[in-house]
Amino acid sequence: MSLIIRRAEPGDAGLVLEFIIKLAEYEKLNDEVSATEADIEKHLFGPEPKVFCEIAEHEGKPVGFALWFYTFSTFQGRHGIWLEDLYVEPGVRGNGIGKALLRHLARRCRNEGLGRLSWWVLNWNEPAIKFYKAQGAVMHDEWTVCRVSGPELEALAEEK
Ligand SMILES: CC(C)(COP(=O)(O)OP(=O)(O)OC[C@H]1O[C@@H](n2cnc3c(N)ncnc32)[C@H](O)[C@@H]1OP(=O)(O)O)[C@@H](O)C(=O)NCCC(=O)NCCS
Repeated sequence: MSLIIRRAEPGDAGLVLEFIIKLAEYEKLNDEVSATEADIEKHLFGPEPKVFCEIAEHEGKPVGFALWFYTFSTFQGRHGIWLEDLYVEPGVRGNGIGKALLRHLARRCRNEGLGRLSWWVLNWNEPAIKFYKAQGAVMHDEWTVCRVSGPELEALAEEK
């Protein structure tokens, strides 16, 4: 199997957005996607990007991606990596491509002295949970995600 993991580059914004939408469809969250190709272009490929993306190419064809950014743990006193999106096209799943993307980020952690590689997974996404557990991930289900957005975020920003 010919597989390479390469950094996404200017010109990949459409492809990255396509993968984001496919992942959102899989997660039944496509109604929540408002990102545009211009947003992706700006944040991934503008000056001093704060978010990064790796593309998996199988036999010369892009088949998956991992989109990530740096976190910081006060407990560890070290940066880590937050994996925002991981997706492999259905036709090539089970060939080690998801694992290769995770390994690529784990190697970055090791090379840069980062303390953690973390991400969310939906509770119903059993195949992904099994995949993650097979890679040594521990589920921290005592934590709940908190989010303020939309009008509530505006209200919180405005309150005196
Ligand atoms: C989850 C996902 C990224 C895994 O990628 P993949 O390329 O299919 O997985 P791999 O072939 O690299 O699997 C690596 C290992 O995990 C195991 N694994 C993968 N899927 C599994 C499953 N459904 N059940 C049990 N084990 C699984 C494989 O057996 C393999 O084990 P090995 O290393 O001992 O051989 C991919 O299936 C995907 O894109 N799913 C839909 C989107 C999604 O759920 N993304 C994650 C959102 S949090």
